[in-house]
Amino acid sequence: MPNTPRHFINLRDFDADLLKDIIKNAHQLKAQKFNPPQLFKGLSLAMMFDKRSTRTRMSFEVAMKQLGGHSIVLNKSDIQLGGSESVESTAQVMSRFVDGIMLRLSDHAMMEELAKHATIPVINGMTDISHPCQIMADVMTIEEKLGGIQGKKIAWFGDYNNVTQSFVDASEKFDFEFIAAVPEDIIPTADKRCTVTSDAKAAAKDADVLVTDTWVSMGQEGKTLDKFWPYQVNSGLMALAKEHAIFMHCMPIHEWEEVSQDVAKSPASVILDEAENRLHAQKAILAWCLEETGVVV
Ligand code: CP
Ligand code: NVA
Repeated sequence: MPNTPRHFINLRDFDADLLKDIIKNAHQLKAQKFNPPQLFKGLSLAMMFDKRSTRTRMSFEVAMKQLGGHSIVLNKSDIQLGGSESVESTAQVMSRFVDGIMLRLSDHAMMEELAKHATIPVINGMTDISHPCQIMADVMTIEEKLGGIQGKKIAWFGDYNNVTQSFVDASEKFDFEFIAAVPEDIIPTADKRCTVTSDAKAAAKDADVLVTDTWVSMGQEGKTLDKFWPYQVNSGLMALAKEHAIFMHCMPIHEWEEVSQDVAKSPASVILDEAENRLHAQKAILAWCLEETGVVV
């Protein structure tokens, strides 16, 4: 059992070179997708969700299976956590059963608390303030499509949410320009680590990547959409970007809200490759987290 588990919770806590190595391994594992190395033989991953998931759940489950390991899915509503059992006990007990835990927990502080008491790696499968595994797959996709990420202009549109915040973290590690165009009243006042504007056209101008996400994250149902319409990624915004610009979205998409259908389905849209890259990125993240359990990265 490692003394210090290799948690994967906040991109901002990582050394840039380590994140780059993980991405490099993700590309290698993608190249080996028809002959995956059996790195996780005998290892088990527990997964817990307090919100819906298609890509995160499938990518981790298939990643474990393809590399020879096993996974168990626990719905938060079915287990003792949140009932009579504490986060501490849950973390301690889970650490005796499996080799890693991947969680989608709205409450980021609860995830940190669980990691504090776990003696095995804890991986962030999304909280209300971050989605690091998604952004690792996005970095991988940009490298794949544009030949690199350093110095590229990545323009974000719409809501300033969990995915946006992990993108900001990544911009500092992978050295790209990140500009977010969001309605005036949601421009964050505290976090000054990237340019945030209410001018969507200025953000799109000469961008290499246009990226968006739902305007209504899970748990925010009932939100008014009026102020977001100027931030819809449509052919007008795409026309301002560089000729080779790509469109990205972590999915699920809401066509004709945050993105027009013609853009979502255009040749510039790389959303399905981006979704597939969740699988390869997850394998590389798991390989790093589980390395001290005997995995050879
Ligand atoms: N992008 C993403 O995390 O998708 P899921 O919510 O389906 O896992
Ligand atoms: N911002 C979205 C991402 C879903 C993958 C949400 O939190 O619902």
